[in-house]
Amino acid sequence: MPDKVTIHTLKKLKQAGQKIGMVTAYDATFARILDDAGADVILVGDSLGMVIQGHDSTLPVTMDQMVYHCRAVTRAAKRAHVVGDMPFMSYQGPWEEAVRNAGRLVAEGGVGSVKLEGGEEFAETVTRIVRASVPVMGHLGLTPQSVHKMGGYVVQGKDEQQARKIMQDAIALEQAGCYALVLEGVPLELAQQVSQRLTIPTIGIGAGLYCDGQVLVCYDLLGMNPDFKPKFVKRYADLYGQIKGAAEAFFSEVRAEAFPDEAHSFKSKTIRLVASNPEVPPPAASAEDDKGADGEKVQIYGVPV
Ligand code: KIV
Repeated sequence: MPDKVTIHTLKKLKQAGQKIGMVTAYDATFARILDDAGADVILVGDSLGMVIQGHDSTLPVTMDQMVYHCRAVTRAAKRAHVVGDMPFMSYQGPWEEAVRNAGRLVAEGGVGSVKLEGGEEFAETVTRIVRASVPVMGHLGLTPQSVHKMGGYVVQGKDEQQARKIMQDAIALEQAGCYALVLEGVPLELAQQVSQRLTIPTIGIGAGLYCDGQVLVCYDLLGMNPDFKPKFVKRYADLYGQIKGAAEAFFSEVRAEAFPDEAHSFKSKTIRLVASNPEVPPPAASAEDDKGADGEKVQIYGVPV
């Protein structure tokens, strides 16, 4: 059994100058593959609202849905540290509610930490959750739950004022007790300065190469949506093409009666094949009455071949 990655492992990786590999997963099958591939961190992201549920934002995702997906992933991830995203409106209210919801992701979902979006204004909430023994990963820059406030999915921190605010938020989150910080959709220069300033690891997505680690949505890196081609995503496979090709081959073999063949079928030692004739009525006698002599295959229904 491989050593489980913990929040302490991640801090040590930053100190040793080793990059952290993080990826999203939403079910046990993907979690197993990504864990076997060596993921340090698996994020059960609220991006599932888009890639699993087909919404155009992450906003409709509920706590119950997050718990469900976290449970599926944590059953399969043996080595990776699993982080559960806190969905929209699960932590923006009173901190007591945020602590309760963070606790659900740990107790019911089995995750090792939670992630929430936002800066200084959530410092108190972060501290309260951490005090309840639930580690918190922060998330700054392009924060998808604030899509309406941002006016779309646009790069943040490009001008000095915005950049200063992000730096200030990052410091506040570290001081509040975050063990790591996702930086999404920010210029690489800003991400570099934040990464140097903080002692906790930064994990970038669309934030350039100077972060302490990188995260991508698994469906994006696997090339499962041919229509989604943002600048920050690199496709390491064309699973859309491969899955579509495999499914087309299956349908074509089914239609050509090439699948299933004998190798993919079960055979009986006692029942024989009959000609298929839908006009022949079922035998009056029961199948039990239709036993053949020793060694002879019996007919259950239909016309003998
Ligand atoms: O929900 C998600 O997948 C995320 C990552 C993009 C960081 O928050």
